[in-house]
Amino acid sequence: MKIETIKTTPIDGQMPGTSGLRKKTHIFMEPRYLENFIQATFNAIGGGTNKTFIIGGDGRYFNKEAIQTIIKIAAGNGAAGVIVGQNGILSTPAASHLIRLNKVDGGFILSASHNPGGKDEDFGIKFNTQNGGPAPEGLTDKIFAATNTIDNYKIIDADDVDLSTINITRHGDMQIHIVDAVVEYQALMEKLFDFTAIRALFAGGFTMRFDAMHAVTGPYATAILEDTLGAVAGTVVNKVPLEDFGKGHPDPNPIWAKSLIDLMMSDASPDIGAACDGDGDRNMIVGRNTYVSPSDSLAILAANAHLVPAYCKGLAGIARSMPTSAASDRVAEKLGIRSYETPTGWKFFGNLLDAGKVTICGEESAGTGSSHIREKDGLWAVLLWLNILAVRKQSVANVVTDHWETFGRDYYSRYDFEAVEIQKANKMMHHLRNQFSKLVGQSHAGLTVTSADEFSYLDPVDGTISKNQGLRITFEGGGRAVFRLSGTGTQGATVRLYLEQYSGLGGNLGLDVQTALKSLRNAAFTISDLEATIRRTEPDVIT
Ligand code: G1P
Ligand code: ZN
Repeated sequence: MKIETIKTTPIDGQMPGTSGLRKKTHIFMEPRYLENFIQATFNAIGGGTNKTFIIGGDGRYFNKEAIQTIIKIAAGNGAAGVIVGQNGILSTPAASHLIRLNKVDGGFILSASHNPGGKDEDFGIKFNTQNGGPAPEGLTDKIFAATNTIDNYKIIDADDVDLSTINITRHGDMQIHIVDAVVEYQALMEKLFDFTAIRALFAGGFTMRFDAMHAVTGPYATAILEDTLGAVAGTVVNKVPLEDFGKGHPDPNPIWAKSLIDLMMSDASPDIGAACDGDGDRNMIVGRNTYVSPSDSLAILAANAHLVPAYCKGLAGIARSMPTSAASDRVAEKLGIRSYETPTGWKFFGNLLDAGKVTICGEESAGTGSSHIREKDGLWAVLLWLNILAVRKQSVANVVTDHWETFGRDYYSRYDFEAVEIQKANKMMHHLRNQFSKLVGQSHAGLTVTSADEFSYLDPVDGTISKNQGLRITFEGGGRAVFRLSGTGTQGATVRLYLEQYSGLGGNLGLDVQTALKSLRNAAFTISDLEATIRRTEPDVIT
């Protein structure tokens, strides 16, 4: 098979804040753009000779075409093999698992996560390394550098591969193995959880709605929940992955999964509702009339994990991102294990998991996961909830209330101010930093400031320091406000304000969340002077 070396010129392959490249789909479709990025990745990892890679994506527009190109460039770079999800489909967690299971050299995951898909929407590529996790910063820096210096790429002149048939074929010396997207992932879930107990739960009349949001988890959830665990047909809705996600925004939160929330907020709802995002790594859990905040979900899963086969021997530790509420810290304390506070982004959990320091980790943005892979895992979180409910034989609402009665409640909400002028957003952060030295002891909206600092993280495994990871202000009475700028937005700056108020043990558990956070919100708005600095008085999105 002929390998061609094609001359090219550098591209903008910058990956701000995320561990992959995320851009408008049409940019990826420009001549040589995708080719350059893939070749740059091969250059950064020291070539492809004799290596094997996992390839798959969330099914969005351009997924299959991009996979054909990656296969040909892998062959051009001398790869020994590629393992590709049937029809180009692999959820992010399934890809992470396949990398680890097959002990391959890495994987290309095609997704822009929860961002909309389509010709005018977003596309993305992420390279994951041998441990199954996203490329660390050192490697993404190298890939970016390579996109700036690239002058050729290597590709074979060959026909497209048939992605629809499970089989093994070859492009010259390179083996191409098309695999079922679900089978191995499902086998892993069956090892972790008590499927017999969950099957008995459904057989006893327990009802569920799982919203796959026309994204990648449809086939996984159908195979596992309906075909294996016996949930009635129709439990999984929006189950067929569509290139544009049915024009939806595949982000499992109360805004974008509103129809699921509406269904659950009625007495006639199923027993549990769940949804996952575009590439299947985020999750939302809702009980009847009970929305479970991601921070609470992490804490509840950690507190109950011992009821489930995979975690019956206990947890090594729990990690949460800094803006995630302190609910899981309280669980760690009670269990006598360490809790870790990391910067936002899954990659920081990888080192802790690899070193065996933590078993469960999570973020306020609906990502939860464990040591079973090196990505967050939406369906895993759903199955962990189901296994816990099967053992406890209680409703979601009862489990949540019981948790609050034991640990106290961390009222929590995130405010997003979107498409803010970057200069104004920086000005606001600057304005906050400037006040830090004199803020302690001041009173705002009736709340006294007890500390103010900028979060920086010393990785306990490799010693790297990550600075400027968010501004934190704590208040007397257990309140905290965190300000940080999003690293994943595509338009201007997104200012995120995270509010959290602890009820205290024996405190009021039944307040409306926004009511419970009112003073804190007012204090945070005053201190940051939002109106003057970013000219906003209301957030665009509240979750
Ligand atoms: C957001 C979330 C963060 C998550 C990341 C990737 O990043 O807040 O928790 O890890 O997406 O899914 P942000 O836009 O806040 O930088
Ligand atoms: Zn995702």
